[in-house]
Amino acid sequence: MIGESASFLEMQEHISHVAPLNKPVLFVGERGTGKELVAARLHYLSQRWEQTFLKINCAAMSETLLEAQLFGHEAGAYTGATKQRKGFFERAHGGTLFMDELANTPMPVQEKILRVIEYGEFERLGGNETLHVDVRIVGATNEDLPDLASQGRFREDLLDRLAFDVVTLPPLRERAEDILILAEYFAVGMVKEIGGEYFAGFSDKVEKALGKYSWPGNIRQLKNVIERAVYQNGDGHITQLVFNPFESPYRLRASAKVQAEEGAGSAGKSCISPPDLSTADSFDFKSEVQEFEINLLNQAMEQNQFNQKKAAEFLNLSYHQLRGYLRKYDLLN
Ligand SMILES: Nc1ncnc2c1ncn2[C@@H]1O[C@H](COP(=O)(O)OP(=O)(O)OP(=O)(O)O)[C@@H](O)[C@H]1O
Ligand SMILES: [Mg+2]
Repeated sequence: MIGESASFLEMQEHISHVAPLNKPVLFVGERGTGKELVAARLHYLSQRWEQTFLKINCAAMSETLLEAQLFGHEAGAYTGATKQRKGFFERAHGGTLFMDELANTPMPVQEKILRVIEYGEFERLGGNETLHVDVRIVGATNEDLPDLASQGRFREDLLDRLAFDVVTLPPLRERAEDILILAEYFAVGMVKEIGGEYFAGFSDKVEKALGKYSWPGNIRQLKNVIERAVYQNGDGHITQLVFNPFESPYRLRASAKVQAEEGAGSAGKSCISPPDLSTADSFDFKSEVQEFEINLLNQAMEQNQFNQKKAAEFLNLSYHQLRGYLRKYDLLN
């Protein structure tokens, strides 16, 4: 894992500290911050490192399928279950099970997971025999689990057990020192992949652009942007970046489409016209933009009864992005 920033090193230390214990750990962070990577690191730093490390994505399946995957099933347990099959808990016995996107786990499955954590016990689907396993559970989410629990959408008791230790991964924009280090690392890897000799570096302009961008997709997005740039440039000096490969003058945006359908001139979603600068001697761009952002944030919070989740939805931001803005402007309470 690459990184030198204080927040990154602190997180690494946190992982080393909790790794030797057999307790559950929860990784929380925005998309693409490296949750899966740190979960694997935790396993390899633990006493279980020679045992199995399995991963399951809890959001990608229906309730029945997830249950069958986790706990296994007996022959004939449901249509299509022709043979007995061991589930992830059985197969991870002695090792670690990484449960990704935990927030979307249906409540009945959560209850069974809790039983495995508490007593190491479960039954295969369609079976009567109680099986015993020793599996360390490591979870990951990019949602606010305490908030989901208070809405009754996640079990408090399971959250309580999972949260023996919670490691929050810093978003890339909060670890700006790492952006260039990671960018070079990904560029070198991509140059190798396309058969190049060595990486010729980034132009000053590109380095500045990398540092200024907000990286909503975090490290995964950085990796994609850099790999694309290397691929498009060959192994030469990188002088240009494409943050959004879909950007094109011919692109039909959803809102533009609606406007076109409603007829030209009708009020679209964005109806704010910028100030007229033609007579100004100078203009304080930064403070004007900040004031504008603060005003929008305050309005959105008020309109949504200061519920951050609703305000984020209203503004088309992720919950974490909204929190980031509120923190930036000191608007948290
Ligand atoms: N510190 C790091 N050094 C090098 N590569 C990293 C680092 N952190 C993350 N990556 C890379 O960034 C990408 C995203 O990481 P990962 O899949 O672990 O994120 P995630 O938090 O699980 O994302 P999601 O929430 O979307 O599932 C992967 O390609 C991973 O290898
Ligand atoms: Mg992941």
